[in-house]
Amino acid sequence: MGRKLAAAAAAVAVLALAACGGTTEPADDATAAADGGGATSSGDLVVVGFSQVGAESGWRAANTKSIQDTLTADNGFDLKFSDAQQKQENQIQAIRSYIAQDVDVIAFSPVVESGWDAVLEEAKAAGIPVVLTDRAVDSQDESLYVSFIGSDFVLEGQMAGEWVVENLGSEPLKVVELQGTTGSAPAIDRKEGFEAAIAGNDNIEIIASQTGNFTRTEGKAVMEGFLQANPEIDLVFAHNDDMGLGAIEAIEAAGLVPGVDIKIVTIDAVHDGMQALADGKINYIVECNPLLGPDLADIIDKVMAGESVEKRIVVEDLAFDQEAAIEALPTREY
Ligand code: AHR
Repeated sequence: MGRKLAAAAAAVAVLALAACGGTTEPADDATAAADGGGATSSGDLVVVGFSQVGAESGWRAANTKSIQDTLTADNGFDLKFSDAQQKQENQIQAIRSYIAQDVDVIAFSPVVESGWDAVLEEAKAAGIPVVLTDRAVDSQDESLYVSFIGSDFVLEGQMAGEWVVENLGSEPLKVVELQGTTGSAPAIDRKEGFEAAIAGNDNIEIIASQTGNFTRTEGKAVMEGFLQANPEIDLVFAHNDDMGLGAIEAIEAAGLVPGVDIKIVTIDAVHDGMQALADGKINYIVECNPLLGPDLADIIDKVMAGESVEKRIVVEDLAFDQEAAIEALPTREY
């Protein structure tokens, strides 16, 4: 049975399950799927259109590599990959293009949470299942996507905040926060988790908070501004390693010692961040695992085979102090 036909059968099976309350899959248009083919026909390969956020961070590079290394022809996929350069309009354009090409499955990591309903409804009307990877959308209509795989960003922020409370919270602590991309799920959720964790501790005060857009360059520039405006900063909470690494450059340029004069807590645990942690320039890192390719392939295979998939798949994350970073670095995959 060809891939499209299998997808059609899958959609029928899924609808039957849904009628029994056994799944939350969207009501894909089975006929549309069966009639597809056209421009993207790739024999028996599953044609996947993937819209990536951009290339803003070490995390993103590792995530892209994981997806491209996994969704290969050898593994049964024809991957159509596009980089949105951190712009929602580019992602919407890419998704519309995948719909026009009648791909088998669309997957994407939404740059921001809001504003997806219209294009996801177009995908649903075309009978193309959508998988969210890494980041969530804030749509109320969960039938617009089949599954969302990614980390629990609130928990990540909470873990960072709990470490700060336990290890530094006995003295007054002035914190500056480098937020991720405004409106993105990780920026919203990590802020929320961190603030919840420190809420009961009057010693800890966030004195400044600004976006560094998840990049090293902008993290450095924002930290320079923080240092000029605030004579006393005890801790940087950066929503990702890259902004923390930019902050290290700004702190050193100001004649201070990162990790000592100003403590730094970040999220991701990519190689450069882990090296800085091992070197004592970062004090604690909560992991965000970017290796989503294999799980994404598994979800797509299940969707194509008509099996039910979990609506939300949470990726487990670790956390590292200096000792743990030194131990983990030699075998770290990213
Ligand atoms: O969505 C995951 C976040 O996006 C990573 O923490 C960050 O580095 C990336 O830009």
